Amino acid sequence: MQKWMRVKLALFFMSIVLFLHVLGAGTSIFLLDKGLRENMDRSLMELLAEIRPSVQIIEGRPSLKSWAETVKRGKLKIPASIQLYDAGGRLLEEYGPPGVPRLGNGRLESYPGAVESRVRSWNESIVRQGVLFGHLQVQDSSRQKNNAIKQAIYAALLVMPFLGALVALIGYWFASVALTPIEEGVQLMRRFVADAGHELNTPVAIISASLETLEEVLREHNLSQDLTDTIAKATARMSELASDLVFLARVEDPMSAYPIGPIKSKGLIEDLAGVYDPLASQKNIRLKLLHIDDAEVVGNAEFLRRMLSNLLSNGLRYTDPGGEITISTELTPRYLDIHVSDTGMGIPPESLQRVFDRFYRVDKARSRLAGGAGLGLSIVKAVVEAHGGKVSVASEVDRGSTFTVSIPLSRRVQVMP
Ligand SMILES: Nc1ncnc2c1ncn2[C@@H]1O[C@H](COP(=O)(O)OP(=O)(O)OP(=O)(O)O)[C@@H](O)[C@H]1O
Ligand SMILES: [Mg+2]
Repeated sequence: MQKWMRVKLALFFMSIVLFLHVLGAGTSIFLLDKGLRENMDRSLMELLAEIRPSVQIIEGRPSLKSWAETVKRGKLKIPASIQLYDAGGRLLEEYGPPGVPRLGNGRLESYPGAVESRVRSWNESIVRQGVLFGHLQVQDSSRQKNNAIKQAIYAALLVMPFLGALVALIGYWFASVALTPIEEGVQLMRRFVADAGHELNTPVAIISASLETLEEVLREHNLSQDLTDTIAKATARMSELASDLVFLARVEDPMSAYPIGPIKSKGLIEDLAGVYDPLASQKNIRLKLLHIDDAEVVGNAEFLRRMLSNLLSNGLRYTDPGGEITISTELTPRYLDIHVSDTGMGIPPESLQRVFDRFYRVDKARSRLAGGAGLGLSIVKAVVEAHGGKVSVASEVDRGSTFTVSIPLSRRVQVMP
């Protein structure tokens, strides 16, 4: 449980850091892309301005032939694709590396053959004395820029698993450091409860023994035993309370080693029904076993017996004479569901989730009269959770209640529909 808590905290840290990393990397890559684009555009504009004066109009068409001759003679390399279009947008001349043969500003792409070509492109109209002669366009390949962006994305992705693992480790360590004092506090409280329960046993045993002697004396003198009966009842409750506290601390203590083994559900349930049958008859309540699967669960037999016993004694306690208690089971692929139902007084909806809390009783006066301390269902919950299972309740006031505990099976089973 505690380990799982640490793992959960570590995963939480990891997801936050990875989320921030993705956010940060995304923003940086976006800004890098924007910067590179702006840089390219600036260079293209400069190139346009540089070439603009060299454009000649020959026979009504723009031309850069003499400029190209000069460049070639000077053995200069043309840095970008330079294109000339006529007024109708038809490509007339192209110099430098091949570009995308289309007029356009900003991003342009084409697929000459199977090769993808992406460029940034800028153009301007060639106008002389108010007449449009054509367009001068410069283009530069986006490959370098795209490669830089791709590398930045790869780098961000590559870092992710290492960053994730590192943060998970640090998160786990941090969670351990942070949780240790809390765990120690919980452990201390558990030990205190267990010790207090143990310590109560001795005075309770002394009271019981003294009470017996006192009862004998009273009997010899033919005196009323009302007072000793009251003390005996209170002592019995105190003893039960002490034993419940010790038991609860034992079940909840992750350090306490208790024997675990395979347990046959049918035997366990039938044995208990045998114990509770006479008690039910005494109260004129029918105890019925419905379908009981003979499944195998793994756990501690004493704990499971005590858990079911608490459910049955609640059923008996909170059901009036003439009522009925039924036990049935149901198999799911991984769990054995045990249902304990009664036709008793039921639990109001607002108390349904709280009945599993320690010392919680729906109607304090009513339950105390019936002798309960409010620990029975906390024990049920603790045992079920220690076995990796769950407990739930459905109830209707004056109609009855059904408690369902799901205990993991020792192995998966095929359930017939
Ligand atoms: N089968 C039931 N029908 C109606 N109410 C129930 C039933 N089981 C439990 N409750 C209610 O839930 C409360 C908590 O039950 P829980 O078993 O924890 O305590 P308890 O029976 O009062 O005392 P303890 O079991 O410690 O002797 C009870 O006080 C009772 O009000
Ligand atoms: Mg109870």
